[in-house]
Parts: sequence; C-alpha cells; structure tokens
Amino acid sequence: MSLTVSNVTFSYNKKAKPVLKDFSAEFYSGRITALTGENGCGKTTLAKLIMGILKPYEGRIMLGEDGQERKEDGPRETDLSDLSLAETGRKIGYVMQNPARQIFSTSVSEEIRYGLKNMGLNEDETNYRAAEFLRYFDIEKYADTFPFFLSQGEKQRLVLASVLAMEPAWLILDEPTASLDIKRKTLLGNYLTKIRKEKNCGIIVITHDRDFAKKYTDSEVRMGDRDV
Ligand SMILES: Nc1ncnc2c1ncn2[C@@H]1O[C@H](COP(=O)(O)OP(=O)(O)OP(=O)(O)O)[C@@H](O)[C@H]1O
Ligand SMILES: [Mg+2]
Repeated sequence: MSLTVSNVTFSYNKKAKPVLKDFSAEFYSGRITALTGENGCGKTTLAKLIMGILKPYEGRIMLGEDGQERKEDGPRETDLSDLSLAETGRKIGYVMQNPARQIFSTSVSEEIRYGLKNMGLNEDETNYRAAEFLRYFDIEKYADTFPFFLSQGEKQRLVLASVLAMEPAWLILDEPTASLDIKRKTLLGNYLTKIRKEKNCGIIVITHDRDFAKKYTDSEVRMGDRDV
C-alpha cells in the first residue's frame, strides 16, 4: 500500500508564491517515513492536503489499495479527491502537534468512543475497540478521567488511541516530539515501532528532530526549501 503525491501545486493565496509547486513524493506503508524540511516549507500544508482539508490546485494524491486486491485485478488506486472529507478522515489519521487541541470529550474513554460511534459502529464493537485501545496505549486507568488533566504525553497517547481505533490506512503525526522529554520521546518511538509491526497502517512523522528520525524512522522525504 502506498500514498503517492503527484505533481501537486498549492497556494493559500492566488497572488502569493505557491507553498507547494509541482511537488511529488511516494510514501510506503510498512515503513515509518520522516517528512522533513525547514520551517515554512509546507509540511503541515502537505498533511492537510493528504487529509483533504485543503485541495490541490493541480496534481493528485493517490492511495494504493492492499496487495491482494492488486494481484487479482491489477493496480488499484483511489484518488483522494474522489472521497468525501469524512471518507478521507477514516483512511487518514492525523495527530496534531498540540494534541490537546483535538480532544473535546469529557472523558478519556468517551474521546475514543466518539470517532467509533461516528463511523457507525455498533455498541459492542465500539466498547470492544475502546477497551482494546485504552489498553494498547496504557491509559485504562484514566478511562473516566477528564482529558484536560492528562499530561502532554498521555494526551498524545489518547489522540493516538482515538485515531488508531478507527483503523486508518495512514497515520500522520505532526511534530510529535516537540513537547516531550527524552523519556516520553523514547516511549513514543517504541509505540511507533510497535504500531508499524502490529497495525496495518503506514506512518508519516513530520519532524525537525534529527535524533528521533534517525532512531525511529526508516526513510525520509525531504521537502525543498522555498526560495522566498
Ligand atoms: N492558513 C494559511 N493561510 C495562509 N498562509 C498559510 C496558512 N498556513 C500556512 N501558511 C503559509 O504556508 C507556508 C507553509 O506553511 P506550513 O505550516 O505548511 O509549513 P511547515 O513546513 O509545516 O512549517 P513548520 O516546520 O514551521 O511547522 C508558510 O509560508 C505559511 O506561512
Ligand atoms: Mg508545520
């Protein structure tokens, strides 16, 4: 399964220089890819384009289907622009730099259940997955806690749990180490390694953290510097 960005051009403002100009890259699932580049080069913009929050002016973003389908019927790809925002949201999970900003429920368990209910899963499946992901990210003891009281690392794990419970094809983390100390960075790195092994999803880590990238990612897409 791959995520292919082909000749994408995007600008926030028609008069300004495009943030992305004829940009192409390929991401492979089964790898953890570091997405790197200087401040302002367009990493978060690319993530928003992949999530369908922004639309490219030109170019395409294609999602390859899994290997089996590919063998039977030849290559199969989905153009993300053919999907609704909700459909894309189920395929692409995004963890913001400040995860607190994407938490809005009144308990940890409810936060995980919210997305699952929205997907139309029944009560049993919702309960099962919520319990599984509370356990997976070691936040069971906070199930009934108001998320506001969690530490930064725990909030990040809650968002990871909420996103992965929906079984996305891709997981994008935007600057996930920015507010973590060394111990929590190691914990996060170990989680990413575990997710790559155990969950069927590709992982993209937007990062400026060279040490983290070296230790926990296995390929790199570097975005070009904008000559502004
Ligand atoms: N909503 C917006 N409206 C207008 N311009 C924007 C908007 N968001 C970002 N930009 C501009 O687009 C460019 C790329 O921004 P983006 O946030 O994608 O960069 P980045 O690579 O994620 O940077 P950083 O490493 O600092 O997070 C910047 O010049 C930024 O000022
Ligand atoms: Mg950014």
